[in-house]
Amino acid sequence: MRRIVALSELDHARHVIELGPGTGGTTCALLKALASDARLMAVDLDPAFSEIIRQFNDDRLISHTGSAEDITSAVQTHHMDGVDAVISGIPFSTIPETTGLAIVSAIHSILNPGGVFLAYQFRSDVVKRTDPVFGAPARVESELLNIPPMHVYQWRKSN
Ligand SMILES: C[S@@+](CC[C@H](N)C(=O)[O-])C[C@H]1O[C@@H](n2cnc3c(N)ncnc32)[C@H](O)[C@@H]1O
Repeated sequence: MRRIVALSELDHARHVIELGPGTGGTTCALLKALASDARLMAVDLDPAFSEIIRQFNDDRLISHTGSAEDITSAVQTHHMDGVDAVISGIPFSTIPETTGLAIVSAIHSILNPGGVFLAYQFRSDVVKRTDPVFGAPARVESELLNIPPMHVYQWRKSN
């Protein structure tokens, strides 16, 4: 978790999006690292997970139910324009290629220049989806103590 937070570069982030928060383990870690005036929008496809996130008692947090494919409109709805970082736990290896590409394009379009996209994944399929849009990852780190090992990929939108 520390690796995910460090590579998300949240020190000066104001608008942050989390894709696929699930039960909120990552969400908690991100909130701990975020400034008091920052905002975090957590987007999950599953309304049951969104409801769990909604119970977190933090004014900086917005829980949104929907697909990562539609984050452009979610960003507008919640006045989150100008996103500094997107952190994703959604499993790119199990979603259709066209959906994966649409998600990556949407992430690129909402990020500020210099903004960070971070994906933590068990498999490397995400790299095939991001390559046409972001190019090669800026950093790749692996959490080998995790079983199976977890890979953390970081991309930066060029200025
Ligand atoms: C592996 S879990 C994430 C684990 C979580 N971050 C944690 O710390 O426990 C993946 C999550 O992605 C969500 N998900 C899958 N596809 C999605 C999509 N297209 N858009 C938004 N969320 C999605 C799932 O509902 C699930 O909650």
